[in-house]
Amino acid sequence: MNFQIKSIEEYNAAYQKSVEKPEEFWAEIAENFQWKKKWDKVLDWNFKEPKIEWFKGAKLNITENCLDRHLKDKADQPAIIWEANDPTEHHRVLTYKQLHQKVCLFSNVLKNNGVKKGDRVCIYMPMVPELAIAVLACARIGAIHSVVFGGFSAQSIADRINDAQCEMVITSDGGFRGPKDIPLKNVIDDALVQCCSVKTVIVLTRTRTPISMIKGRDKWWEDEIKKVETLGLIDCPAEEMDAEDELFILYTSGSTGKPKGVVHTTAGYMVYTAYTFQNVFQYQPNDVYFCTADIGWITGHSYIIYGPLAQGATTLMFEGVPTYPDAGRFWDIVDKFKVNVLYTAPTAIRSLMQSGLDYVKDKDLSSLKVLGSVGEPINEEAWNWYNENIGKGKCPIVDTWWQTETGGIMISPLANIIKTKPCFATLPLPGVQLMLVDEKGDEIKGNGVSGNLCITFPWPGMLRTTYGDHERCRQTYFATYENKYFTGDGCMRDEDGYYRITGRVDDVINVSGHRIGTAEVENAINMFTDVVESAVVGYPHEIKGQGIYAYVILNKESDDEELTRKDISMTVSRIIGAIARPEKIQFVKGLPKTRSGKIMRRILRKIAEGDVANLGDTSTLLDPTVVEDIKNNKI
Ligand code: WTA
Repeated sequence: MNFQIKSIEEYNAAYQKSVEKPEEFWAEIAENFQWKKKWDKVLDWNFKEPKIEWFKGAKLNITENCLDRHLKDKADQPAIIWEANDPTEHHRVLTYKQLHQKVCLFSNVLKNNGVKKGDRVCIYMPMVPELAIAVLACARIGAIHSVVFGGFSAQSIADRINDAQCEMVITSDGGFRGPKDIPLKNVIDDALVQCCSVKTVIVLTRTRTPISMIKGRDKWWEDEIKKVETLGLIDCPAEEMDAEDELFILYTSGSTGKPKGVVHTTAGYMVYTAYTFQNVFQYQPNDVYFCTADIGWITGHSYIIYGPLAQGATTLMFEGVPTYPDAGRFWDIVDKFKVNVLYTAPTAIRSLMQSGLDYVKDKDLSSLKVLGSVGEPINEEAWNWYNENIGKGKCPIVDTWWQTETGGIMISPLANIIKTKPCFATLPLPGVQLMLVDEKGDEIKGNGVSGNLCITFPWPGMLRTTYGDHERCRQTYFATYENKYFTGDGCMRDEDGYYRITGRVDDVINVSGHRIGTAEVENAINMFTDVVESAVVGYPHEIKGQGIYAYVILNKESDDEELTRKDISMTVSRIIGAIARPEKIQFVKGLPKTRSGKIMRRILRKIAEGDVANLGDTSTLLDPTVVEDIKNNKI
C-alpha cells in the first residue's frame, strides 16, 4: 500500500505535505484506487455556502474498489467473518469472491424491483452479513442507502423514510440481540402507515417470527434472489458514479430540531475511510479486524464495511451484544477467530470491566496487536483496564475522535507510531487542520489551553450537505464561526500538543456513545398527555458515560408518580426509541428561566450532576425559588 505511514518521521512529513500541498497530497493517495475516469480537479471548496467538491469529474464505483479489484489476488480470502448472537449457531465466512457474487445478485434484485441510480433505500436490519450485502448492493447500482439503527422506533423510521422519500425498505422478520428477539418487520409495518413513498419492502428471514406480508408490497429476500438466478441475472456491472454522487444518508441528532440526514458522497469518502483505516490501525495483510459497532451508526459504515473492504481486509461482524450469553463474549470471539485488531467503545469496556476479570482470565487474547476506542471520551480507569487486562500492556490503544459528519477518524494515534497517552486522542491525522477557538471565534494559540474544536480546511471524508436542507447544514456547522467547521465538541491541547476531547459543548447528550439531542427528547416527553413542559440534560453515568435526566412539569399532581414515570418513558420509547429513555425523571413545579424565558440549563445540569453547591448566580432568574424546590426534590 503506497499510503501506509511507517514511522513518526513519515507521519510528520505526511502531515506537513497535507497542509502545504493538500491537493497533491490527496491526489497521490487517490492514485491507489480504481477509477473509471480520473479527476479534473482535486479540490474545489468554500465553507461559506458550504461547497465541497473532491476529485471533481472523476468516475468510479466504490464497490469495484471494495470488491472487484480484490478478486485478482484475494478471491478466497475472507472478506466478512460473521459471528451469530447465539454462540452455538455456526459462524459464517464470506470470501471476497462470495461477497462479490452475493452483492451482484442482490444488486439485480434491487434493479428487478425498479430501484434506480439516485433512489433512496432505507435499510433496517439486524447485524447479519445480508445487511452489509444490502448496503453494498445499493452502492453498486448507485442507489443511496439510509441505514436506520435497529433500536429506533416506528415513528423515527417513518420520519427518516419521509425525509429522504425512500422508494424501498430492506428489513428482516426479526433480529436476535442477546436474549431478545426484536420484531423488526412489525416496526416497519407500523412506520409504513405514514410513508407513501415506499413501493417495495424486501424481507430477509432471520428469526422466523410470524409477520404480515402485504401482497404487492412485501417480498421475501430469498424468493427475490431465486427470481434473479432463474433469469440468469448473476453478474451486475457496477454503475458509473460521479465522484460527488451521493453514496449514503445517515441521520444524526443535533442540539435543535429533528435528526438531520448527513450526506456523504462517493470518492472522497472512499479515499478517506480507506486511508484512515490503514494508518490508524496499521492493518497488515491477513489480520482479522473486529469492530464491535453496529452498522446502523457511522462507525459501522466506515470501519466495518467501507474502509476495511476498500483495503482488502478481513472484517468481523458480530450480531449480538457484549454481555450475552455472558460478559466474556468479546473475549471468546477474539480467542475463536484470533482477532488482531479490536475496535470498541468505552461504554462496552466499562460494562465489561464491572463484570470482573473472571470473564477474561481463561481467554487467549495473545493474537491482539492493536486496540481501538470510539464514540465518547474514555475515562482513565477504563483506559487502564483495557490496556492492562485486554492488551496486556503490549497493544497500543488508538483513541479515535471523529463524528458522523467527518465520515472518518480525525484525531487519533497511529498504532505503534504515535505514542499514546490515556484519554488523549493525541494528534490530527494528515489532512486534518484543527483550531481551538473561544466563544467569539478567536483562535486560542499555544499549548496547555482549552477551547471549542473547529476544523479550518476540508478533508475528503467530510459531509457535503444535510439531506434536502442545505441551509441547515450551513447553519449547524459553518455559521457559528466564520470559515470554520464547528464540531460541537470542547477540547484541550496539552503541553505536548496532544488533543483531548472533553465532550459536547452543545445540547447533545452522548449515552453509551449514542448521540441524542435534548430537544428531541423534550419534544417526545411533551407529547405525553399530562406534561406541560420539560427540560432534559445529561449527567455523568458510570457505565453509559452520560445518562438522561428529565425535569418535568405536570398539569396536575400524579396519584402514582412511579407509573407516570413509566408512562413518560414509554412515550419516549414510542416516539424516538428505547435508547432515548430518560434514566431519571424528576417532577418539578417550575423550571429555572431567565427573565426573557430561556431555560437555564447550566443550573439544571449542575443539579443533575449533584453539584448543588456551585450553582452560580441565580439572582437573575425570573423565579429563584424554583431552584430550591428542584434541589430539595432531586432524585
Ligand atoms: C464523541 C461517532 C471523545 C464526540 C464516531 C463527537 C468522542 C461525537 C470520541 C460524535 C473520542 C466520538 N473521544 N469523544 N474518541 N469519538 N466522540 O456522530 O462528542 O455518533 O462529537 O460519531 O461523539 O458521535 P457520532
